[in-house]
Amino acid sequence: MTQADFDFIQSLAYEKTGIVLPERKKHMVYSRLSRRLRHLNLGNFSQYCSHIQRTPDEMINFVNALTTNLTAFFREEHHFKYLESKVIPKWKKNKNRRLRVWSSACSTGEEPYSIAMILEQHFSGVEWDLKVLATDLDTDVLSKASIGSYASDSVTNLPRRYADKYARQTDNGQKVQMRSSVQKMIHFKQLNLLGEWPMKGPFDVIFCRNVLIYFDNETKKKIIARFRKLLSPQGYLFIGHSETLTHISEDFDLIGQTIYRPIGHGDNKLQQTKRSVANL
Ligand SMILES: C[S@@+](CC[C@H](N)C(=O)[O-])C[C@H]1O[C@@H](n2cnc3c(N)ncnc32)[C@H](O)[C@@H]1O
Repeated sequence: MTQADFDFIQSLAYEKTGIVLPERKKHMVYSRLSRRLRHLNLGNFSQYCSHIQRTPDEMINFVNALTTNLTAFFREEHHFKYLESKVIPKWKKNKNRRLRVWSSACSTGEEPYSIAMILEQHFSGVEWDLKVLATDLDTDVLSKASIGSYASDSVTNLPRRYADKYARQTDNGQKVQMRSSVQKMIHFKQLNLLGEWPMKGPFDVIFCRNVLIYFDNETKKKIIARFRKLLSPQGYLFIGHSETLTHISEDFDLIGQTIYRPIGHGDNKLQQTKRSVANL
């Protein structure tokens, strides 16, 4: 791969996905795209760069090859504990029995299934309108997510009470299949965080975890400002363990470990007092 090839790939990835590919990721890019070269019987990266310009359909494979999809059930468990111990008890007191959660970079689905299991566990048998929107840029991961079948060792993180109830063993115990009660709560859809968002909201919670790290500050600012508009004033935004909204947005209060709420949500008296003092 020549420097010119890498520069081309780098700027195309940035333009289409917002993903920043620094020089240190050259090796990763090489190995991920080599599979496409082999598949297309191309001899070098310059040929691949020409191919992608001539063949718009290749873009989807290019993007799918470059995304990093690492995820797990109940990954960063503190968010799920917070949902169960702090958020759900509040929701249960609501007169409005409608809840909307968006998993905005859902990868192979473990995140939205974890959310849906919690909602099903706490609200089943009661008349609630519950929906989880699960979106990702990568069409390959979305296909896997919508099937809802996973290797059984991937559910080791799943609390027993959820595994027994919502993950049915198949293939002689080698796989598990998510039960339809949780599956039907989730709506999987392809969506580029850089592109059009057809949803109107408002969402009660937005999960945007472990994807902001791939973007530069300008892209992060735009996405977070759009989240603010779609999030209910009483809502929650969960981001990944190595991500922060410091220097990205002043529209949110940090209320827990990588947990944010829109300013003015009314629950955080301490933050509000601090702001009033700062404004004196
Ligand atoms: C590391 S995974 C995170 C999965 C999950 N949120 C978690 O924390 O376990 C990052 C996901 O972001 C997706 N992604 C990358 N760029 C994106 C974009 N521009 N729009 C939507 N999704 C994107 C990737 O396809 C990938 O599945």
